[in-house]
Amino acid sequence: MQKTIIIFFGPPGSGKGTQAELLAKKTDWQKISTGDLLRSEVAAKTKLGKLADKYLKTGKLVPDRFIVEMVDNSLKKKSSGFIFDGYPRNLKQLKDLLLMFKKRIKKSAPIYAIEIAVSDKEVKQRLGQRRMCACGKVYHLLYNSPINEGICDICGGKLFTRNDDKPKVISHRLKVYHHDGQAVLDYWRVLGKLIKINGEQPIAKIHNDIMEKLRELKVI
Ligand code: AP5
Repeated sequence: MQKTIIIFFGPPGSGKGTQAELLAKKTDWQKISTGDLLRSEVAAKTKLGKLADKYLKTGKLVPDRFIVEMVDNSLKKKSSGFIFDGYPRNLKQLKDLLLMFKKRIKKSAPIYAIEIAVSDKEVKQRLGQRRMCACGKVYHLLYNSPINEGICDICGGKLFTRNDDKPKVISHRLKVYHHDGQAVLDYWRVLGKLIKINGEQPIAKIHNDIMEKLRELKVI
């Protein structure tokens, strides 16, 4: 089966999750967010969750061997496409993903990485204002606020600040991103599969830019 693969790439807080969600709503492709999967494991206090918690709290990457297994287990075989948010983040994960695809996906399948380009300064501003719901819905106090303060529009749950949205942890996450991420970006760029999008625009405009690019490339 021909499956489309879209990989959202960018620094923490660049809007990968927000844009992956919007794209998933327009397609029938499965969205896989390694951050969300790990947070579910932490909430469920599984063995992986207990281990991952320490990494998430400090902004370090969870060891690759746990990630590859978690991603592999979460792929729905029948989905006509996959949208990855926050994976792969380093060369080892990229290698693992390519191996996973080799087993399941035709060589000719369309595969693109979308880089959402945002400055470190913007990242720090955004993450300071982010609020989350346990159902996974993400808000921003200024740009994407809930109808009722502190309450999720979708499920009525109480909104909270993510543990890793503290200034010190944000700085570390950015450091990890710049250190490990460049080689992954270079891989997609050299392959001619990188779509760079200006992430410092309104959410709806970024979504439109992405849709336009995917239409141009005849992916949708
Ligand atoms: P993860 O959850 O993936 O975090 P991240 O990559 O740091 O990215 P974020 O979720 O913080 O941001 P985002 O880019 O999705 O932005 P969002 O749409 O929320 O990972 C967390 C941790 O899990 C990692 O540190 C690591 O420990 C572990 N982990 C995860 N994946 C891993 C992997 N593959 N390997 C190993 N470890 C892994 O938007 C941010 C805010 O801005 C929101 O408030 C949003 O409403 C707002 N916003 C979005 N777009 C805009 C816009 N255009 N203008 C204004 N505001 C906007």
